[in-house]
Amino acid sequence: MKIAIFGTGYVGLVTGTCLADVGHDVICMDVDADKVSRLKRGEIPIYEPGLESMVRDNMHAGRLRFTTDPAEAVTFGLLQFIAVGTPADEDGSADLQYVLAVAKTIGEHMDDYKVVIDKSTVPVGTADKVGAALSQALAKRGSQLEFDVCSNPEFLKEGAAIDDFTRGARIVVGTDSERVEALMRECYAPYNRNHEKLMFMDVRSAELTKYAANAMLATKISFMNEIANLAERLGADIEEVRRGIGSDPRIGYHFIYPGCGYGGSCFPKDVQALARTAGQVGYPAELLGAVEAVNRRQKTTLFTKLQRAFDGELKGKTIALWGLAFKPDTDDMREAPSRALMEALWAVGAKVQAHDPEAMDECRRLYGQRNDLTLADSREAAVEGADALVICTEWKSYRTVDFAWLKRELATPVIVDGRNLFEPDAVKQAGILYFAVGRGESSMQA
Ligand code: UDX
Repeated sequence: MKIAIFGTGYVGLVTGTCLADVGHDVICMDVDADKVSRLKRGEIPIYEPGLESMVRDNMHAGRLRFTTDPAEAVTFGLLQFIAVGTPADEDGSADLQYVLAVAKTIGEHMDDYKVVIDKSTVPVGTADKVGAALSQALAKRGSQLEFDVCSNPEFLKEGAAIDDFTRGARIVVGTDSERVEALMRECYAPYNRNHEKLMFMDVRSAELTKYAANAMLATKISFMNEIANLAERLGADIEEVRRGIGSDPRIGYHFIYPGCGYGGSCFPKDVQALARTAGQVGYPAELLGAVEAVNRRQKTTLFTKLQRAFDGELKGKTIALWGLAFKPDTDDMREAPSRALMEALWAVGAKVQAHDPEAMDECRRLYGQRNDLTLADSREAAVEGADALVICTEWKSYRTVDFAWLKRELATPVIVDGRNLFEPDAVKQAGILYFAVGRGESSMQA
């Protein structure tokens, strides 16, 4: 099938590449000329395992192209995927200007029937707005051309996006049109072979499904963080509690890892946007507000623990930080707990020596050169001359540590572990103070 994708960000690039990979003819359009010329050279602007070679292979095979020309993309694709950004407004609601601009563009250039597909995470009711923007653009041209708008939310995790696209649990499509249903079936047929993954529903339910999924996952994390904070105060170990509750299939082991708060481009933004949507229809969504509040507080927990370890005397101290990305296998630092920590440390006059396997360029881009930030080449270099070590991201390469070595390197010896990577007893035996998340006395001992 002929497919156009608007937006070559995370979602657009993965969607376009995976659809090309199963034989569709795909053109990806972006207004960022620099990005498009890099993509044309096979350079990927994001870090996503497996994506770069897949983009190159499909470009060589002639199934995947990039353009800055909206007319070319609109006329090419029968299916028009909108995968542009929906950043949060100051009030937390999703900013739809880019989505609606694409709708207008499609209306200005289309020359035949089109299916317009909302792939970006957009508030309930957006498909109607997209339809209205498109109709308006068509009316201006005096055109009677037909189109349909459907919702097809993505459920991609950074670092596992290709796998999520190709082997995802479900493919949700919101539409009331049989024609669209048949076309979307055809589009996704290669990914719908072994069992039926396509779920057709009305547009608004599809739009809400995406928010509900992310809000549910964020709720699980905030819930566990709340219990972890309680466990800390009650002398219980959240890791035991996690095993205890996860064994109940109604609860399950997934997504109940306590930590230093969720980050990324989705959970913080989507929970806020859904709460905002609830407010707009006059429903006070108390749980959503609490999920967000708990997460905000959780992001301060590493700093609070450091303060406790140093009796509030952090000025002039050098803190080694392992892990800048909001989670492993990505270079993304959006809403990362590491940022809350670094900013709090800088505010009290402490220095940071940070290491991350992938996100150091991103950190440089965000914070530039500053005296109180050193980006170290290795996890060992980050620890050199530091007073304490904080772990923000559970990269695999941080999981094995020679504690005797760490004790020699760290002036104070303190580890604040935002991801519960180590056995508290092993760390304590090496003579290091260990502050984990929700692990009873080990996290409280100072
Ligand atoms: C998420 C959803 O998983 C995905 O389905 C959706 O489409 C987009 O948002 P992503 O943001 O890439 O994907 O990351 P994810 O792996 O879900 O992790 C989100 C955050 O939650 C990370 O900061 C992670 O560290 C944190 N997390 C996750 C926990 O703190 N505990 C857990 O048990 C799981």
